[in-house]
Amino acid sequence: MLAIIGGSGLTKLANLDVTQRKVARTPYGEPSGPLTLGRILECEVVFLARHGYGHTIAPHEVNYRANLWALREAGADRIVSVASVGSIRKEHKPGSLVIPHQIVDYTWGRRSTFFDGAGSPVHHIDFTEPYSSTLRKAILKAAADAKEKVFDGSVYAATQGPRLETAAEINRLERDGADLVGMTGMPEATLAREVGLEYAAIAVVANYAAGRGDSAHAVPMDKIGAILEEAMGRVRHIIEKVCEQ
Ligand code: HPA
Repeated sequence: MLAIIGGSGLTKLANLDVTQRKVARTPYGEPSGPLTLGRILECEVVFLARHGYGHTIAPHEVNYRANLWALREAGADRIVSVASVGSIRKEHKPGSLVIPHQIVDYTWGRRSTFFDGAGSPVHHIDFTEPYSSTLRKAILKAAADAKEKVFDGSVYAATQGPRLETAAEINRLERDGADLVGMTGMPEATLAREVGLEYAAIAVVANYAAGRGDSAHAVPMDKIGAILEEAMGRVRHIIEKVCEQ
């Protein structure tokens, strides 16, 4: 079954025909909210709002382990993560959709593995390619079928938040090879790999990153809501096409 984790701007899927809401408990605590199960066209989908349905859970406070565990228990085998990001590159304008292929992790203090605790054997997952290439391809094909433009590939920098970055930090991320910056891509991607779920992301550019474009002096927070609302319509369209595959 396909799972969708919705980020800022996507707390519900309008095209989801809801059949059940399920409160899930896991050995790692409670996920961000009840799971919403239903159908998009003929395909079964489970949806979870990463920040809670009222958008009250900050990126560093999300229980990523409980979210991934609950989705897998509900029968998910692939996860499309939808996440808003800031853009470091000129060509990824606000409103653009990007399918990242790499990650640099700057987060700290998050519970980022299922393989810890006394008596648990040390386990090192391979993470050379952090996103599932099969699911990335499926999303790219879905976007082409939906005639929605997406950028194929980019490096996602995961920052701790919840504050936005300084202009100097963005310069540093660029020197590190990053194209996009967001706060929730990690440890979500690594936990998905640990439990054997296919995982890929649709990054929605909400703004130019600090110091860039019209964020030269401050990030224009007042513009972000409308940009995300418009872009999420395109994201829903792409998700429908992923479902049809
Ligand atoms: N930085 C980090 N995370 C974000 C941003 C940003 O500029 N925009 C949306 N999520």
